[in-house]
Amino acid sequence: MTQVENKPATTNDTPFVPIEKIVALCKRRGFVYPNSEIYGGVSGIYDFGPLGVELRNNIRRYWWWSMVQLHDNVVGIEGAIITHPRVWEASGHVENFVDRLVDCKNCKRRFRIDHLPEENVIQNKCPECSGELTEPRTFNLLMETYLGVVEGERMKTYLRGEACQNIYLDFDNVVKSSRVQVPFGICQIGKAFRNEVTPGNFLFRQREFEQWDLQFFVHPSEMQQWFDYWKEKRFEWYKGLINHKDRLHFREHGKDELAHYAKQAFDIEYQTILGWQEWEGIHWRQDWDLSRHSLYSGQDLSYTDPNTKERYIPWIVETSGGVDRTFLNLLIDAYEEEPDPAGKEARTVLRLHPAIAPVKVAVLPLQRNKEELLTTAKDIHKRLQRLMVCQYDEVQNIGRRYRRQDEIGTPYCVTIDFQTLDDQTVTVRERDHMTQVRVAIDELPMYLLERVTWR
Ligand code: GAP
Repeated sequence: MTQVENKPATTNDTPFVPIEKIVALCKRRGFVYPNSEIYGGVSGIYDFGPLGVELRNNIRRYWWWSMVQLHDNVVGIEGAIITHPRVWEASGHVENFVDRLVDCKNCKRRFRIDHLPEENVIQNKCPECSGELTEPRTFNLLMETYLGVVEGERMKTYLRGEACQNIYLDFDNVVKSSRVQVPFGICQIGKAFRNEVTPGNFLFRQREFEQWDLQFFVHPSEMQQWFDYWKEKRFEWYKGLINHKDRLHFREHGKDELAHYAKQAFDIEYQTILGWQEWEGIHWRQDWDLSRHSLYSGQDLSYTDPNTKERYIPWIVETSGGVDRTFLNLLIDAYEEEPDPAGKEARTVLRLHPAIAPVKVAVLPLQRNKEELLTTAKDIHKRLQRLMVCQYDEVQNIGRRYRRQDEIGTPYCVTIDFQTLDDQTVTVRERDHMTQVRVAIDELPMYLLERVTWR
């Protein structure tokens, strides 16, 4: 991705943003709404509004572009949310995808046992009120659903608990139908569903969310080299998108916290007011998935090297991240309230990377009462909206309109003023430093495209 032309005027010691501010902005400006709000909402499920869907699409497209389009040895698929139920037995989720929970008998709060401080577990004591805890109970996170309409003949299956399973199911089809050879990868972006017992922190832990996965298939002898390669590549990818570079790090999983399929795992974590939290996992899945699906389906999922004729089960490097966590972290990372030097209202600005920003440019006639300004502005807006998401706004004074755009992260505002009518140039105002330059109308599309697209 191209670097932001003007480095954001943000520093690493900027205070952490309270999540409530992000939630309020998201609702106020149409990024995210609580799902089924008029019925009281559903915990851990959200809808995305007009700006949210643009931001999400940009995030998804950027991931796809970097992972699939720019790699000759990576292809994409889009698998279904519902699969054969045996998939989840083979994957180990029916048996292992569980949370162990305890309730406080006094304050009635519920805790995941693996989230409790060790001393509370040993003493069986609530971390909030010191009340006695119940015996641990086990909950499976898979969401059940049923196929068929006739009672008694319906088949129980699951909404996928992790999106990546389709990739293993389609592995053999991809090998046979495209020209890929190990080492190669398959990517997918798709919804996943988990009956999280403790959903919360806005988009951070939801029950319906979206994941992006790369499953990279390698010869066992090359596993370490590819694991290191993707680990670094993904870290740099996230780093390129954020302003607070020092709020990103790796954390290696301890042996006791490894998922049932992982032999080794690193989380890329981002630091917010909630502390360090997982953003993406890099997992050494080895031959777990293809071996298990071979065993459970009875189909041989091994691979024959076309050159050496060696037959083996490829090992897998997985990079698995969340679209929603990316959405949330990027908003948190970009959000800033800047004091107004004139001592009036603080300026709220989203310093999103221009290529990710939901609206790329706003076209603003300086005054509303001059017909020629409006006609020229509308004409420019029509030309630009064919190329990028562009808003036209003539309501309120120019300062207020700039503020409205800053708050949603629009990197450029184009103002049509009286000089425009004389010399066919416009003012282009940049979001982060509020600098202004004059650009000829004919050169405007290229001027903006160069700054708001990834290349
Ligand atoms: N296939 C491996 C896998 O699913 P995971 O660590 O459970 O691994 C991968 O999930 C990513 O999916 C996480 O790093 C996170 O970004 C996202 N994710 C997981 N659970 C989530 C939830 N309940 N809500 C939102 N995002 C979630």
